[in-house]
Amino acid sequence: MIQTKVLDRLRNSSVLSAAQFDKELLCELTKLAAYLQLHRFPVVHALEDKIMAAAFFEPSTRTRLSFESAMLSVGGKTISVADAKTTGVAKGESMRDIGQMFNSYADIVVVRHTEQRAVADLTEYLRIPLVNGGNGSDEHPTQALADWYALLKWRPEIAYGQIPEKFRLNIGIIGTPGNMRTVKSFLTLALLFPENVNHITIFSEMADPLGAELREMCNGSPIGINFSRDLQGSLEYLDVVYMNAIAYLGDGYRFFGEEFQLSAKSKLKDDTVILHPLARGDELSTDLDETQHNLYFNQADGAVWIRQALLLAIFDRVRNIVPDNLLN
Ligand code: CP
Repeated sequence: MIQTKVLDRLRNSSVLSAAQFDKELLCELTKLAAYLQLHRFPVVHALEDKIMAAAFFEPSTRTRLSFESAMLSVGGKTISVADAKTTGVAKGESMRDIGQMFNSYADIVVVRHTEQRAVADLTEYLRIPLVNGGNGSDEHPTQALADWYALLKWRPEIAYGQIPEKFRLNIGIIGTPGNMRTVKSFLTLALLFPENVNHITIFSEMADPLGAELREMCNGSPIGINFSRDLQGSLEYLDVVYMNAIAYLGDGYRFFGEEFQLSAKSKLKDDTVILHPLARGDELSTDLDETQHNLYFNQADGAVWIRQALLLAIFDRVRNIVPDNLLN
């Protein structure tokens, strides 16, 4: 049963941070996403009166297209900015004025921006919900929803009570959560599962990969957080490896060194899964694509359904799609 009372918390809400989600809300949203993915309605009209603006001031493949696909397949309409250079930004237009236009032209806006502050600044002028599609090095909350949707499909028992210790997860995160938006949002949601996540090991070249805000969050969690540079020597202990293409290392973006790369030759456990928000670089070899370690394509595929679930919850249209006997 899907708990509509829990999903109602998203009604007419903006989504700026993964920290807005607790375990209950995340799990109800993933249940709704699973229902939508299983049924793949040919045509429905749940959002036929709604327009979504996808305003991407930084390049994207998955986030913009999966949001648009999610909206279109439940009857909604989309308008898009795929390149900041095609907007008034190129002529110096302010985000404040752009925000006024979103109010007039759409019912919801998904924004990606290079600047961390741009998303919070925009919400000051918006009367419609805003979904953060990635703001600089800060957050990518709906990517984290897609990450955990993939993980909870892989191991649904993680969401329900405490499982025996030998089945609990040891997660490796390659990167610097304090400076990488997908990694930060993924880690934020990982902290919601203290019963079933044993350890999180962060593999980074940086002395302080968490930064002050995340360090405080991690210090308040019973999950053991470790730091290491020895990814290859730690692979035999990891059930999940979360990786990304680039790291922000103080003075700019850099690709990871060879010691943080994975290929089919890496000494992964047979049942270890790899998550990667994509796009990838050399850190994730294509020879892993055909292996059982590949959860990253599933992660990208599921993004449509978790984003559709989110849109339906924000517009309070879950009851238009899911039969009453599956709702509580
Ligand atoms: N995962 C992700 O944010 O991909 P895009 O940059 O293609 O949207």
